[in-house]
Amino acid sequence: MAEGLELRKFLAPEFIFGAGARQLAGRYAKNLGGRKILVVSDPGVVEAGWTKDVTDSLEAAGLSYVLFTAITPNPKVEEVMAGVALYQAERCDLLVTVGGGSPIDCAKGIGIVSTNKKHILDFEGVDMVTSPMPPLICIPTTGGTSADVSQFAIISNPMERVKIAIISKSVVPDIALIDPVTLTTMDPYLTACTGLDAMTHAIEAFVSTARSSMTDLHALEALRLLSASLVPSIRNPDDLNLRGDVMMGSLQAGLAFSNAILGATHAMAHSLGGALDLAHGECNAILLDHVIEFNFAASPERFERIAQVMGLDLRGLPLKERKKALLRHVRELKAQAGVARTLAEVGVGLSDLSLFSEHALNDPCMATNPRRPSKRDIEVLYEESL
Ligand SMILES: [Fe+2]
Repeated sequence: MAEGLELRKFLAPEFIFGAGARQLAGRYAKNLGGRKILVVSDPGVVEAGWTKDVTDSLEAAGLSYVLFTAITPNPKVEEVMAGVALYQAERCDLLVTVGGGSPIDCAKGIGIVSTNKKHILDFEGVDMVTSPMPPLICIPTTGGTSADVSQFAIISNPMERVKIAIISKSVVPDIALIDPVTLTTMDPYLTACTGLDAMTHAIEAFVSTARSSMTDLHALEALRLLSASLVPSIRNPDDLNLRGDVMMGSLQAGLAFSNAILGATHAMAHSLGGALDLAHGECNAILLDHVIEFNFAASPERFERIAQVMGLDLRGLPLKERKKALLRHVRELKAQAGVARTLAEVGVGLSDLSLFSEHALNDPCMATNPRRPSKRDIEVLYEESL
């Protein structure tokens, strides 16, 4: 069947984008009928002041709330379950989350457990959530995760040293309040890692086997915006226009990948992050160029489009040179962003790779990779990234 006639759906929450969006939390929580709100955030975001802006807005709307911030990067099973206990003990009826991917994914976990009355690990996989969660309002404070618009929640299971992916439209928030001002307190490393994560979302969505013309539109615009603004925003952290472009790029990448799903980079990054508790964006950045090299032959015209949108002029170059030019560009971008470590430098050894490859092969994101890898292919990709 022609590609344009295949069945595809596109799902996105209501979102409000712009400076000051975070201060609308109270109004929207009230509109959604909330009376007692669990605010899920983390200590770094509290310190940056963004959590208080949101709780002030809840107070101004006359709403009571309880704060839950016992969350570490890569949110863990027991953190979700502790949040559920607090949600239930305080008789909450709505969730507001302020932060990066960790608080947002944790809030999604708290939401689905509290209405479905099952353990968080029971929701692993695609469409495993049967009852809708309570209303959820997300205020993202990093330009990368897009958990605020996506149908993904990634939770770490430290007992098994793996991450589980929960993919369900039940974890798409009701409203995202996307405020680029919140990006101004990110340090250069966090800006780089989260921005490269967003770029990986756009690239993987654009070559995914579940892509559609709607996801293509957002993936390409995301890449255009992020290519132009990510490195400058690291160098000019207070420039709100650049932060705005990064945040918009991240949002568009999120709309693309939430619907087109991802690929081998994310499958392999989830496996790494689950075992070693590493920063998700850095894992993707380390692997991205190696996975592009592996996938290129499966969709050369799509990777050429990616290169063009990133600003490369490939006219007149033979196929092999086009691939080389794209790889060189991605590697330069990583270096300019300051993300230059290898897997060995973040603590991965050769003896880890067999198990990591097995987990990556079973990750739901692998299903939409444009080229089907064997376990040995994945091992080689990890080896090249050491
Ligand atoms: Fe990601």
